[in-house]
Amino acid sequence: MQDISDYYRCTGKKTALVPTMGFLHKGHVSLIKKAKENNDITVVSIFVNPMQFGVNEDFDKYPRDFKKDYDICKEAGVDYIFNPEIYEMYNKSLTEVTVKEITGRLEGKFRPGHFTGVATVVLKLINAVKPHNIYLGQKDAQQNAVLKKMVSDLNADVIINICETVREENGLAMSSRNSYLTPEQKSNASILYFLLNEGRKRVLENNFEDTEAIKVEISVLLKQKHPDIELQYYEITDNDRLDNISDLKNYKGEVLISLAAKVGSTRLIDNIVFIKQ
Ligand code: PAF
Repeated sequence: MQDISDYYRCTGKKTALVPTMGFLHKGHVSLIKKAKENNDITVVSIFVNPMQFGVNEDFDKYPRDFKKDYDICKEAGVDYIFNPEIYEMYNKSLTEVTVKEITGRLEGKFRPGHFTGVATVVLKLINAVKPHNIYLGQKDAQQNAVLKKMVSDLNADVIINICETVREENGLAMSSRNSYLTPEQKSNASILYFLLNEGRKRVLENNFEDTEAIKVEISVLLKQKHPDIELQYYEITDNDRLDNISDLKNYKGEVLISLAAKVGSTRLIDNIVFIKQ
């Protein structure tokens, strides 16, 4: 891959990387489309990265279908698929990339070590593909914040482009993990986007001094509608360091509302970002 990317760098062609763990869906296709619009060469990486899964997580059962992914990439006009083996990525490696502070919040509390796995693999992908641009979905807001900080702290020569979350008709954010859900769970999971929008409404009404009262109302709403869904967190933060917004009334700027919830045994994440004037 490095010979190919060196060649494109030398010829002045703009290269894009869409990093994925495969089992591609419409969200990935929209990233590929953006990448193709703004670059000469588009590379999709497909690598289920063991380093970002905890011991009791779903690495083994994570959905994989390379043939289907290949067809989707071909149809979308992808120039190269980078599909390394685990031993090629992590051959006796002793090095990890850890971004501090931002990684301890939200997902970090439930998935210790996850973002070290993500940052390490993405830096390795950047070094292998040498893209000018990377395309990531807004659904993984904390991952995006971590990767932006890593790129800036380590002077990586790449621009991170964040693209809108693609949703099912009922509002459920597209995710490879949605394939674990039954049709009934899929329908119930639409409550998550509803809860994010209810949070946004309350933030923008500006009647709440702090975020705690909003979070209580959100838990009540969920209990009324879907008591079987377990909300692991629902946080209202800034969109850069992901700090809780304590003085909500006087806060101005980008607000990120993010949540994680278990629908049956499937853990889903989602978020929305908006401006508070
Ligand atoms: O968002 C994902 O699919 C993964 O975390 C990524 C960025 C491909 C790294 O493995």
